Amino acid sequence: MASQTSQITVEKKKLEQAPLQLHYLGDRMLRQPCKRVTKIDNDIRQLAKEMLETMYTEDGIGLAAPQIGVNKQMLVVDSDPEDSTNPPLVLINPVIKRFGKELCVTQEGCLSIPKVFLDVVRPKAIEVTFKDENGRPQKLMADGLLSRVIQHEMDHLNGVMFVDRVDNAIALTQELQKQGFAVDAVQPIR
Ligand code: NI
Repeated sequence: MASQTSQITVEKKKLEQAPLQLHYLGDRMLRQPCKRVTKIDNDIRQLAKEMLETMYTEDGIGLAAPQIGVNKQMLVVDSDPEDSTNPPLVLINPVIKRFGKELCVTQEGCLSIPKVFLDVVRPKAIEVTFKDENGRPQKLMADGLLSRVIQHEMDHLNGVMFVDRVDNAIALTQELQKQGFAVDAVQPIR
C-alpha cells in the first residue's frame, strides 16, 4: 500500500482512561450487522482517532466500531503497536476480495471478551479493499498477524465474534465460564 500522509495522528500510548466505552460479549450491539459509511468526514476521522486511542489504552491490536457501540463498517488495526514508526490502519467499508487457499490456526483474543484466548482456524492470507480515513480507496494484501486481525475485526462488522468460530467446544465452555461469560452468548457458525 502506498504510504500517504494521514490526517490522524495518534501517539501509541496508554491514556489514563479510554475515550470510548467497550461493549462486551452478551451485548446485542455486537450482534448487529453494521451499516456502510457514506461520508468520510471530520466526524469519522475523530471517531477513528478515539478508536485508536481506546485500542492502545486497552492493549488491543484491533478494534471494530460495534465494539464501542457504533453501527458503522469501520475498524482500526495495528499489528505492531510497539513500533512508533509504523502507522496504524483505518479501514472503512472493507471488503475481502480474495482469501488465500491455505488455512492456519492462531490463538485469538478480543477486547470485548477479556482474558479469553482460544484457537481459531482462518485463511492465512487475504486481499482486502477499503477506504482510508481520507476517503482514498486502498487495496491491501495481508498475511500473518495483520491478515488475522483484519479478518477478526471484519467479523465484528457482521455481528460475528471469534468465539463463534472456535472448534474446541470444551475449551470454549471452560474459558468463557472461567471469565464469567454466558456460554449461550456464543452463536456457532460451523
Ligand atoms: Ni474482537
